[in-house]
This record gives sequence, C-alpha cells and structure tokens, in this order.
Amino acid sequence: MLLSYLRERLRLTGTKYGCGGGGCGACTVMVSRYQPGTKTILHYSANACLLPVCQLQGAAVTTVEGIGNTKTRVHPVQERIAKAHGSQCGFCTPGMVMSMYTLLRNKPQPNMEDITVALGGNLCRCTGYRPIVDGCKTFSPESNCCQANGNGAGCCLNGDFEMCFVGTHDIDCVFQEPPPQLFDQEDLLPLDPTQDLIFPPELIMEPQVSQLFRGERMVWVSPVSLEELIQLKTSHPQAPLVMGNTNIGPDIKFKGAWHPIIISPTRVQELFEVTKTPQGVCFGAGCSLSVVKALLEGLVQEIPEEKTEIYRSLLQQLGNLGGQQIRNVASIGGNIVSAYPNSDLNPVFAAGNCTLNVVSKRGRREILLNKDFFVGFGKTSLKPDEIVLSVFIPVSRQGEFMRAFRQAPRKENALATVTTGMRVMFIEGSSVVKELSIYYGGVGPCTVSATKTCAAVIGRKWDEQTLSDAYTQLLDEISLSPSHPGGQVEFRRSLTLSLLFKFNLQMLHKLWEMVWTGSLFAPIDSLLGKLEIWNFYLLISAIRPLPKQLQPSLQEFQAVVKGQSGDDPVGRPIMHRSAISQATGEAVYCDDIPKMDGELHLVLVTSTRPHAKILDIDISEALRVPGVVDVITSKDIPGKKFRTFTGIDEDILAQNEVSCVGHMVCAVVADNRKQAKRGAALVKIAYEDQPGPVFTVEEAIEKQSFFLPQRMIERGNVDEAFDKVDHIYEGEIRLGGQEHFYMETQSMVVVPSGEERELKVYISCQHPTYAQTLGIPSNRVSCHVKRVGGAFGGKVTKTSIIACITSVAAWKTGRAVRCVLERGEDMLITGARHPVLGKHKVGFMNDGRIIAADLHYYANSGNTADESLLVIEKILLHLDNAYKVPNLRGRSVACKTNLPSNTAFRGFGVPQSMLVTENMINDVAMKLGCNAEEIREINMYKEVSLTHYKFEFDPKNLLRCWDECKEKSDYGSRRKSVAQFNQQNRWKKRGMATIPIKFDIFSVRVSVRQAASLVHIYKDGSVLVSHGGTEMGQGIHTKMQQVASRELHIPASLIHITETNTSAVPNTCPSAASFGTDANGMAVKDACEILYQRLEPVRKQNPEGTWQTWVTSAFIQRISLSATGYYRGHDLYMDWEKQEGQPYAYFTYGACCSEVEVDCLTGDYRTVRTDIVMDIGRSINPSVDIGQIEGAFIQGLGLYTMEELKFSPSGVLYTRGPSQYKIPAVCDIPLQFNVYLLSGSDNPHAIYSSKGIGEPVLFLGSSVFFAIKDAVAAARVEAGMVGPFTLNSPATPERTCLACNTPFTQKIPASKQGSFQPWALSIP
Ligand SMILES: Cc1cc2nc3c(=O)[nH]c(=O)nc-3n(C[C@H](O)[C@H](O)[C@H](O)COP(=O)(O)OP(=O)(O)OC[C@H]3O[C@@H](n4cnc5c(N)ncnc54)[C@H](O)[C@@H]3O)c2cc1C
Ligand code: FES
Ligand code: FES
Repeated sequence: MLLSYLRERLRLTGTKYGCGGGGCGACTVMVSRYQPGTKTILHYSANACLLPVCQLQGAAVTTVEGIGNTKTRVHPVQERIAKAHGSQCGFCTPGMVMSMYTLLRNKPQPNMEDITVALGGNLCRCTGYRPIVDGCKTFSPESNCCQANGNGAGCCLNGDFEMCFVGTHDIDCVFQEPPPQLFDQEDLLPLDPTQDLIFPPELIMEPQVSQLFRGERMVWVSPVSLEELIQLKTSHPQAPLVMGNTNIGPDIKFKGAWHPIIISPTRVQELFEVTKTPQGVCFGAGCSLSVVKALLEGLVQEIPEEKTEIYRSLLQQLGNLGGQQIRNVASIGGNIVSAYPNSDLNPVFAAGNCTLNVVSKRGRREILLNKDFFVGFGKTSLKPDEIVLSVFIPVSRQGEFMRAFRQAPRKENALATVTTGMRVMFIEGSSVVKELSIYYGGVGPCTVSATKTCAAVIGRKWDEQTLSDAYTQLLDEISLSPSHPGGQVEFRRSLTLSLLFKFNLQMLHKLWEMVWTGSLFAPIDSLLGKLEIWNFYLLISAIRPLPKQLQPSLQEFQAVVKGQSGDDPVGRPIMHRSAISQATGEAVYCDDIPKMDGELHLVLVTSTRPHAKILDIDISEALRVPGVVDVITSKDIPGKKFRTFTGIDEDILAQNEVSCVGHMVCAVVADNRKQAKRGAALVKIAYEDQPGPVFTVEEAIEKQSFFLPQRMIERGNVDEAFDKVDHIYEGEIRLGGQEHFYMETQSMVVVPSGEERELKVYISCQHPTYAQTLGIPSNRVSCHVKRVGGAFGGKVTKTSIIACITSVAAWKTGRAVRCVLERGEDMLITGARHPVLGKHKVGFMNDGRIIAADLHYYANSGNTADESLLVIEKILLHLDNAYKVPNLRGRSVACKTNLPSNTAFRGFGVPQSMLVTENMINDVAMKLGCNAEEIREINMYKEVSLTHYKFEFDPKNLLRCWDECKEKSDYGSRRKSVAQFNQQNRWKKRGMATIPIKFDIFSVRVSVRQAASLVHIYKDGSVLVSHGGTEMGQGIHTKMQQVASRELHIPASLIHITETNTSAVPNTCPSAASFGTDANGMAVKDACEILYQRLEPVRKQNPEGTWQTWVTSAFIQRISLSATGYYRGHDLYMDWEKQEGQPYAYFTYGACCSEVEVDCLTGDYRTVRTDIVMDIGRSINPSVDIGQIEGAFIQGLGLYTMEELKFSPSGVLYTRGPSQYKIPAVCDIPLQFNVYLLSGSDNPHAIYSSKGIGEPVLFLGSSVFFAIKDAVAAARVEAGMVGPFTLNSPATPERTCLACNTPFTQKIPASKQGSFQPWALSIP
C-alpha cells in the first residue's frame, strides 16, 4: 500500500498510520490525475493505507511534506491549523492538513459545509475539533459576526457597532476593550496558489499501456482497454476487480483474504463514461462516489424537481456514506458488487428500479437491481466473469416519490445500522398506490426487499389504516433472530418501522402539497384519517432533520495583568511549541525513527481462549518462515518474569495459563513486520480450557471473583438516616468501558548498544521509567520519549509490559527491535476504561434534600489488577461530587474477569463514580417531578465544608462556576424554550442538563508526585530544559518553556525543551492525573531559580549587560551553568481504616450546560449547544488549557453517548478498529461550543496559581448524556410514562430510541431472556 511505501521506502513519515482500514484519515494524501476527457486535473484526498501503489500509474501523489515545511515555507493550511491551536499531540494533524489542502486546491474559498465535509473522514482524539475547524474557517469568505473569538469582519467586538446575530441570539453591542483572543488572524500567511506543486506534465503525455506487476505471492494486472479487461476476467473469473480497494483492501488486511491475481481496471475509459439522457443518467461503474455525488448535485439543479426523486434519495445517502477520502476512491460499481448487508446505495438502487449494464465474453446484458440480484452476504447474481460496465439511474416519473433514510452509530463516516430506500407511485390524481418498493439494509445478510409489505399496500389509498396494516405486515416480514450478528435486534426492527413511518409522513406531506396545488383531488381529512391538522404539524417533526449548522463559539479567558512584560509568556495563549512541525509532518514520532541496521520487528502472539491452561507452545513452524529470527516466550525472560503494579504481580508473558482472549503469550521477531506476522500466525498453542470463564460483574459477584481489598467509606450513619426520610429510591446504571483510541498505537524501538548491557529505549509512553526492565540496572537503560501521539492513561502500565517483551527480544538477539502495534492488536491487548455497574439507594425529603445515600460500584477490572485498586479508591473519593449528603456511604470492588485487563484512562474512575452520583440526583428529581438542576442546587456544598473523607475545602468557586454557567448559558429562558419545543414537536425532543464538577488534583500515591528537571545554559545563551514529563499533546513542553522563560527572564525563543530522557532526568514519574505541569513546572522553576541566582553576581557587575554578556561572563568566571531542579510534591495521605485523609492538594471546579435535540424515532441526537465554565486558577497558557477542556469534553461525550466496546459471548473483543468502534468526529461537536475560564481565581497550591486541567472536564461530557435523558423523559411523557427510568451509558442511538418507548419500539416483541445466546455480552 502507498502508506508503507511512503513511510518505509521513501522515508516520508509525515503520512501516519492510525488504523490501516480507511477509518481514521491519519494517512490522508492528495492524489492528482489528468482527465483526458475534460483535459483537467482532478485532485482528491485519499487514504494511503488503502491505495495500492500499483494503481497509481499516471497519478501524482502529494504528501504533507510536499506542500510546505519549516526549512523553506510553511503552507498556510499548516500554519493556520497550528496557530489556531488545532494540533495537540499532532498525530492526526498531517491528515487534517491534507484533507483541507485538497479542498483548497479544488475550492480556494470554501464555505463551512465544505470544510466540515472535507474533515469528516479525519479523526482527532485530542482537540475536540473546534480549533481545527476554526483554523480552516479562516479560508472561508463566510464571515459570521463574532467568528473566531469575535474577530470576524465587521464584528461588534472589533469595535463596530452594528447589532450582530449569532444564530438566533442577539449579542449586546457595547463599547469595550476587545477581549483577548486565542490567535491573531491578522498574522496569517495568505493562500498563495503559486506555492502549489504543479502536476507533472510528463504524466499528461504518458502513453496508456497495460501493465503487469509480479509480487512474491500475487500478480497485479492493469489493462487499459475493455477488450483486454473482458479477456482477463474470462481467463481469471475469480480475480477481483480492484477499483477503490475499500472493500478488497480491508478484506485482505483484516480477514486474511488472498487473491493470486488482481485485476485493476482503473484505466479502462469505458468504466468512467457518464451519459445523460431524458430517461436518466448512466454512470460508468468505475465512477467514484464523489463524482457520482457531484454529477447528481448538478442534475438536481438542472432538471425539473419531480424528475429527481431518485437522484435526491441517492444524494441523501451519499452525503453520509463513509468519509470524503472513501467517497473519492470507492466506485459505484464496487459498492453495488460488494453487496454489503448495510450498503447505503443498494436499497436506493433497488427501490429506484436502477439497472446494471454488464459485459462478458458472452456479450452484454442488462440486469435489474432488485431482490434477485442480492443473493447473500457479499454475493450477487453476477456470473464470476461478468463485469459491471455501468449503472443506469432513471429519472422519476410523475406521481412517483422516493426517499432514503439511514441510522448509523455516528452521524457520518459510519456504516449504517439500518438503511433504506422507499419509493411509491400513486395513480394519477389520487392517493391510491400504484407501485411501492421498499428495500432495507442492515436487517439481513444482504439488501432485502419488503415485498409482502409492499403488496399489502399496492392498490390501496395511502392513509392511516393502510399504513397501520403495513407496519403489522412489515413486522412479520422483516424479522431477525435474537442472536443476529451485529446485535441491536430490537432496535433494528423498530427502525424498519419508524423509518417507514417517516416515509409515510413525507408522503402525506407530499400528497397534501398536491391537494393545495390542485394536482390531487382528495379532501385532506381523507389523507390524514382521524388526525387533526394541528396534530399533523406536531408529527412533521419526525421528518425535519436535526440541526447541523455549526455556530460561532466563544472562548473567554482572562488577559494577563497590565504591566506584565511582553517577554513574559506566562498567561498568554502561546501556540503548542511543536504545532508547526506537527502540521508539516516533520515532527518525529516513535515509528518515524529511521530503521536501524539489522533491525527486527516484533509481533505478539495472543491467546484465543478466555481461560485455559497452556499445555504446549509449538514455535517450530514459525521459525521456518523466512526472515523469522526468534520467538520469545516467558522462559526467555532473564530476570523477573512479572511486573508489579499496586503490589500485585502481573506476568509479562503468560507462563502456564491464559486468562483472557488477547493475553500475550509469546512474540515473534523477524526481519520485517510481514514476516513476523506470518510467523505469529504459525505459532501453535495447545490449551486446556478451564470451566466457567467470568465476563460480567454479575458473574464475578456470583463467584466472588475480586481483586482485594474492597473499599468502603461512610460519612454519618446511613442506615439510621434511611429511617428518617420522606422517600427512598433504589436505582442502578451501567457504564461501558472506553477504548483510549490514541491515534498513535503503542510503539517502541529498543536498541542494544552492544556493550556493557546498555539499552536505549525509544518509546511512546507516559512513564519512561517503567520501560527500564529485566534485571539490567537502570543506569544502563536510557529511555527516550520525544513525543507521544496521544495516551490518555493507556500508555503507562500496558506499555511497560510490551516494552519489557521488546527489550527481552533486543537483549536476546542483540539487535534493535521495533514493536508497533496495529490498531486491532492494540485494541485487543491493551485494555480500556473500567466498565462499572453502579447501584444507589437514596433517601430524600419532599423538598429535595438528600439525607442519605448508599452507593455500590462494581468495576470490571479484567484479568489482571493493573491499577484497578487505585481506580476503585478514586471512585469512592469522588462519589460526593459537588454535594453535601450528610449520610453518605460508598463501597467499591474490583471484579476479576476473563476480559483483557482494564487500566487507567483520563479521569481514573471519576467519570464512572460521578455518573452514578448524578444519576442518583436525576432519579430524585424525576421522583419529585422537578428539574435535576433544582436538586443539584439544593444539595450542593455551600460553605467551607468537610468532604466525606474529612478534608476541608471552600466551595466558593464551585458555586461561582455553577452560577456563571447558568447565566452564560441563559439556562432559565432556554429551559422554557425547551419545554415549549417539546410541546410543539411529537417526534423530536429537546433536553438540557447542567452538571457541576469538583475534581481533585494530585494523586494519593505519594511517591509519584515528585518531579525533577535539568536545565543547561550554553555559552551562546541558549537554554536546554529537560524534565520528567512526557509531551502527549497536553502542551507540557510549551508550558515548561513558558516557566523557564519567566524564571530566567529571557524570551522563550532562547529555550529548547528536549525529549524526555531518563539519562538526563532519572526516576521520572508518570505524566498523569492532571499534575504534570504542577509537578514538573515546579521542578523547572526550581532549576531556573538556582541558575538565575547564580548569575546574580554577573548581573550586578554589569547591570546594563544582556543575557548573552552575563552568560559569557559567568562562564569565564567559572560559574556552573547547569542545574537540577526538584519538587517534592505535597504531603498527602489517605487512611482507609480511619476513612479520612488529605489525598489531594486542591480541587478544580467547573460546570457545564448542554442542550440536545433527539430524534425519538431513531435515537439520533445533536448537541445544540454547550457552555462550560471552568475554574483553573490562573491559566499558564489559555490556548493549551482551553484545548484540554474542549478535547476532554468531546472524549467524555464519546464515553457517555457513543463509544461502545463489544465482546462476543466467549469474550472476544469485536470492536477492534474505527469501523466498529466510533469515537466522536467533527460531526459530533456541539453546534455552539462556548468555554469560559473563571476569572479572578487563585490557587496557592500549584505553580503560578494555576490548576491542573487534563482530566476534570471529561466528566462534563455527561451533561450531554443527562440532556439526552431529559429529552427521553419528555418523549416518555407522550407514551404516558413518568418517573425515573434506567438509561445506561453510553446513551447510543439504540438505547435512546428504545428508552423513548415509541409506538414502534413497543411493537417489537421482546425475546425471552435465556432462550437464546445474544450476539454480544452485556458488559460491565
Ligand atoms: C472506512 C469505510 C467506510 C465505509 N462506509 C460506508 C458507508 O457508510 N456506506 C456504504 O454503503 N458503504 C461504506 N463503505 C463501503 C464502500 O462504499 C465500498 O467498499 C465501496 O463502495 C466499494 O467500492 P470499491 O471501488 O472500493 O470496491 P473494491 O474494493 O475495489 O471492489 C469491491 C468488489 O467489487 C468488485 N467490483 C468492483 N468493480 C466492479 C465492476 N465494475 N464489475 C464487477 N465487479 C466489480 C470487485 O471485484 C470486488 O469484489 C465504507 C468502506 C470503508 C473502507
Ligand atoms: S491509517 Fe489510513 S485511514 Fe487510518
Ligand atoms: S491532535 Fe488530533 S489526535 Fe492528537
């Protein structure tokens, strides 16, 4: 594939590997091709991981390196994404840059929709997308008032006085100082097309000749004429025709498909011809979906609307199908022939009477795309030697209407759960159905037809009774087994009905329009049956799309104090110091390190059994694979064969037993990854399965399978208090796990120096010290972390174990060994956030006061303890969140199961803990029939108080955040609007939630709170700073540069922050728990203060001197210009016996208000607006901190509403890549996303009065969860249901829709529990 060719052969490492399957966009490049027909150059973005190099004959490929660099000139796209703070860890940035760059090549002045469409196929796990969009938006001429922090042209905040409108909200215009901005738009390079590389002229002239490439195991043939193609397909009927390679490619990569011959007809002109006739349009089967989309968009403008029903339905689907990069290469023919069960286009083609023109040696034929064409999973009725030449899409006829709908786990770039095309034709002048065709995807092995349902409707009037009969018939006709692959059986079945209902309403609307325009002579009431017209308007909400237009957002922060030196960068929104090199692709990540001489690659072999004894490991066949050098097993580990976390040993490689699918058993090392993979597949492990593996917490409770100790904490007397309350309510909530999905997978290179057992470990991790292993003294192992492409807690313990294995391999072979996990391996092996079952019993009074609460937390730890015992402690320490419940008890337990071991994840148990608490508050509110915000306010800490572990704190700033959040979000009046909206809309409901947070900073583990630094001043005045923190995108190096700049009184440009290196700063502590800056900042400050002091004599000698002269004098006077700095950390403790302590240094506070709109028929939702107010003390760098806030919020939104890990009944993780596991994309960000940093807040406990911010805001993503729950509650009222109900997290469309309890979900008969095996486990 092009990706490995670029990275390994050409050493162009700016293009990144994120998933290898087209799902993340990290590998985006621009492909340019000459179009002989139009004599133009077509530029399109594509995923290099799916682009076969052989297919690029005649194409020019532009990578991120080709558009700009720091040595010559940075391209404006690179510059603007960087300056707008759109690059944190930077791993996604080159892909983002290339998507945007390609857009600009095609449209130099894009609108907002163009931008979000272009970025739709690119994932970012750090930023929350807003700053990336803001950077890209600077190319758009669409000037909104208050755009980019009030910097839009003509904006009132720029000093103009016209009233400006942001959405529907007026902003009062008053004379005031312009607020500080995150970046300055005046300062940006203009877009200069002359900077673009020209298309190589020789490619225009290139002769078109057939080509054949012969590989080790495969032959690639690329014909240029149709005759040749027919000939080839006749000779090799089983050979696939590779067009976009978006189906064949993933099949080869992930499913092990192998084709000895591949035919690539991308240069056969006939496959790209487009013919327009009055009857319809005929697309060559090779046309990409983007070309089809663009041409259809043109046609719907050109021809009368009534003829474009099928075209518009296709456009409806094409707008959401895959990402831009996929649509740019995937062909229309490939999409049809792939015959995906959930293809979006096939139901429309089939319902729309489209036809295929097919050619083979026997001649041409026309095939109607209907139920007889799709014969099974990935199978059609095409003969093996037949080639699809073109696809004919007819114009719609008079009286014919068509619609398409889809519901997917994510709004965009996700295969649909259910997708459909529906077409009806009425007898002229009436509402009697002449033809009806309904096809679904996602409810069977292939595209299926609802033939019987259609037959039941044809010949009848389109009215309420007819449709009611249709639902009954449909329910019978489209039925799924309760164990159906993919699960979500009830949801899918309900979607078939509710999507038909949407179609029904659309048609009623259409018929109604026809009545008004006189083309239909029927009384309206005959159409609507018993429905009142007013009711019909309420129902119309079913067909109105959810809002999707992004609104300008605000980021408000405090300016630095007047008089602060211009050279002092502290408190200013300084760009991430590597942002530009990240955007140009020059930033070096672990796998970008050039291959060493003799380097080997390591691939892990993992268990396929959930719990079994290992009887034998047979490595003989693996060793016979050419290139395989060794297989490392536990026996090869020279020292301790385990690592110890929180006092519990964990095997590095399984010794006698495996305890989960994915348990690491051994590792194959070979000359390259391909050979190592082949070897790994040939390792034979004989197992003896152990009975009764444990997967869920219920099973763990039943078998008492726990990691000990369990924890308990109590304030007051809970049992007694329950006797004195007005109400008692018991409820529970389940919270699923969360995959870290750092964009850079686990990566490391271990290099033995060959002498005195020295090892150099280059690694992407949060805790460099851990990587030093194996009985070799630490003074021989230097660990280097330049930067980490995202970590979020997932690169501490698990990375250390993989580093141990890689080090053993390097030590044993004496050669450098590289281990870079593929996305699927990474997701399988490295664990996730702990899923939790939370139960609560709450006692409260009629006025809303909560008097007693008893909470139980069961965390699914997986097969090893890892840090689970710390997680369950943190859960208990946070269960009060912002509330003073006088009698409060919490118990938590880490359940030992046979799933991959779970580990630290941003928030470390707090997001699970507080969700249970807030759910309890929500239940109290629902019981009392009031808004949850009222209950929150009644029970919030109000004055200096003791927490449940007897730690005194002042909640003043918590209350300030809460009040400001309500004020800034206009909570009161929007609550009323939400209620009004819900009255007026039957099928769309809005919901709101405001959530507070009190989050501790620092960790109770005393030893990991210290930090050290090393600062050198060189004779030329430049300064080098090393510290123990790792740069993972959180901007720690940028902040350290700011600290050193302030302390040494020199410009930041003189300071360089080197990689984290254990030879420079030993005994580093993990960069985690939001205290990286607090601890390392103090250590850097300490070293700089020492040095500044040392320079005092020379400054005194020459007060008029400069930094340079002082440094020179100091050197001459033999003053040491190098110093270490140290920070001991706070003396914190927690005594679990006494249930009291001071486990934290201080709290970060905040509040967040979110509003959502939910489509009750599909469970789809959109976050309409989010306002966050955070108290982070005095921000050292507001752009970095706001970036952390936005990024954490979106990650929380993913946790609570989208991200779902699914396991098979035998404990195999299904969700092993972006195709199955959906993290938020640009389509998921709140339409309006305002962040305010609380002003005037001080914090004596951390550097420069700042506060840690990496983790806290993640929990505030739950405001979207509770807003959805609020909307669902409104929907349930329509079904006559009031009072508390359970909505588990994540609130996926499936859970949301089923909780809404619509007439359609009610129709689905529930399968009898125990009578079938569900497709997936119910975790936790
Ligand atoms: C990340 C990702 C997201 C996706 N999202 C969606 C989505 O949301 N909705 C959706 O519907 N699809 C989605 N897809 C599927 C995608 O649309 C199809 O894979 C694509 O359309 C197939 O076209 P291709 O040109 O890439 O086919 P290829 O992979 O090149 O070929 C696929 C098959 O079609 C056959 N074939 C190709 N052309 C011809 C021809 N002319 N005659 C006969 N046989 C032919 C080949 O032999 C092969 O068997 C997604 C795919 C990916 C990778
Ligand atoms: S690496 Fe290519 S799309 Fe993810
Ligand atoms: S900056 Fe986007 S993934 Fe890290």
